[in-house]
Amino acid sequence: MMSHEFSTKVISFSSGKGGVGKTSLVSNLGSLWAQQGKKTLLIDGDWHLGKLGIAMGVRPQWTVEKVLSGTITLKDAITPISDSLSLLASPSGILGFEELDETSRHQLFYAIEDLHNEFDLILIDHSSGLHQGVTTFAAAAHQHVVVTTSEPTSYTDAYAVMKILSQRYSIREFGLVVTMSHDHAESQRIMERFIEITTAQLNVKIKLLEIFPWEPKLSLSIIKQRPFIDLYPRDPFTRKLSLICKKLDENPAARNHGLQFFYAPALGR
Ligand SMILES: Nc1ncnc2c1ncn2[C@@H]1O[C@H](COP(=O)(O)OP(=O)(O)OP(=O)(O)O)[C@@H](O)[C@H]1O
Ligand SMILES: [Mg+2]
Repeated sequence: MMSHEFSTKVISFSSGKGGVGKTSLVSNLGSLWAQQGKKTLLIDGDWHLGKLGIAMGVRPQWTVEKVLSGTITLKDAITPISDSLSLLASPSGILGFEELDETSRHQLFYAIEDLHNEFDLILIDHSSGLHQGVTTFAAAAHQHVVVTTSEPTSYTDAYAVMKILSQRYSIREFGLVVTMSHDHAESQRIMERFIEITTAQLNVKIKLLEIFPWEPKLSLSIIKQRPFIDLYPRDPFTRKLSLICKKLDENPAARNHGLQFFYAPALGR
């Protein structure tokens, strides 16, 4: 059993562009951390097409919608997946974080904050897009992971996410994950250049966490509704995922951010 001496760290995964592999990443990183005994909560922030439950092979009885309507508590809405892993599912096809009014958003922040002693880690899998509801939620995390491919259509959206988070919420540090690479050296070259330009223009720090290859077995793991890391524990792709866990563990969470930050009356930003 993990003691509660660790305070909860909230990590957000966003992308701008859709379909770049956020949900795959969150489901696998969450499973890895849970295997290490870290109490981990996955929050499906994609309320239009929430697929985290599908990826994890669970059918949640409740979703966060019932929490916002006051029918059940957030704690009751959480679906256990394994000893250390839980899911706060989204009500697929209802409304998105982007459509939540400010009161509901605060209600949710408070409810999540209340869970702090229950979890070591909370991972938020955001919907794509740059709506304010998404960015506000993303901004409330301690660590910010931006997911992109090395194609311009994707990294320009990654740039836009970092621009909003840095300019509107003063977030200065980002972890970048590159997915679906067909040529590692080429992706590395492109993304290093991207980081150089973005760092200079936005006055942010970007750590390139990992470049993942195009991996056809990933869609197989979705079909089987099992995390990739369970199906292929010794695959190089799994090793890369473990490395991300390690890098994020080593990188201390920014102190001035986190959920509490948003209770301050500076919300009009
Ligand atoms: N590295 C990869 N190589 C090949 N396919 C991948 C890779 N990463 C993800 N995929 C596949 O791409 C599709 C989209 O992945 P995923 O749902 O994780 O993306 P997402 O960013 O969460 O999408 P959305 O924006 O719709 O929420 C899935 O079919 C998944 O199996
Ligand atoms: Mg997704």
